[in-house]
Amino acid sequence: MKHGVFITFEGPEGSGKSTQVTLLGQKLAAVTGAEPVLTREPGGTPLAEEFRRILKHHPDTDGEPIHPITEILLFEAGRVQNVNCVIKPALAAGRVVICDRFTDSTVAYQGYARKNNIEMLKRLNTFVLDGLTINLTVLLDLPPEAGFARAEKRRSTHGIYDRLEAETIEFHRNVRRGFLELAKESPERFRVFNAEEPPEQLAEEIFREVSRVL
Ligand code: TMP
Repeated sequence: MKHGVFITFEGPEGSGKSTQVTLLGQKLAAVTGAEPVLTREPGGTPLAEEFRRILKHHPDTDGEPIHPITEILLFEAGRVQNVNCVIKPALAAGRVVICDRFTDSTVAYQGYARKNNIEMLKRLNTFVLDGLTINLTVLLDLPPEAGFARAEKRRSTHGIYDRLEAETIEFHRNVRRGFLELAKESPERFRVFNAEEPPEQLAEEIFREVSRVL
């Protein structure tokens, strides 16, 4: 059986990734007749979703803050579960797999923004992936000011504290810079889109690029 195709979505807070992942999933199902496997990070398996809850909502300000190395290892531990329980089996079965955030988020957030050693993070990702390769990374680029406004709107609706969204604007500028540098380093894997375009138009442009790797 043909090996599947692995697509990742990356971008800053409020870039509309989840909407685009959903739209791409629907379009692929309609055009190819086969449902793609949608997953996300942190998360994607029951255990990794538990790590997600800690990573997103642990109250750092009182009690015991998450150490920066613990943060890295929890993201990577969740990734081990997602890669081995969801992504690799689906690819081996010939499916298209779409993951909402993946390894580049670790390098952008824990590396460029959190200032951990970037080479170390890349080596850790290589270790965790153990031979898995990404066929296409869709980067939804957005200035942090615009992403903040969108994330703020969401926060006021859900009212839940989010550790990483609560970081400074400078942190989020570094996240964006990180993603753009990674895209420059691997132009054969990345496609960069302007996340401020209308969602339907963006979805069509993304689908066009995805069609090339199918
Ligand atoms: P989101 O899926 O709602 O965007 O939330 C995930 C958050 O986790 C987001 O703030 C980005 C962050 N993140 C990292 O810092 N490192 C990682 O490796 C991943 C996958 C996500």
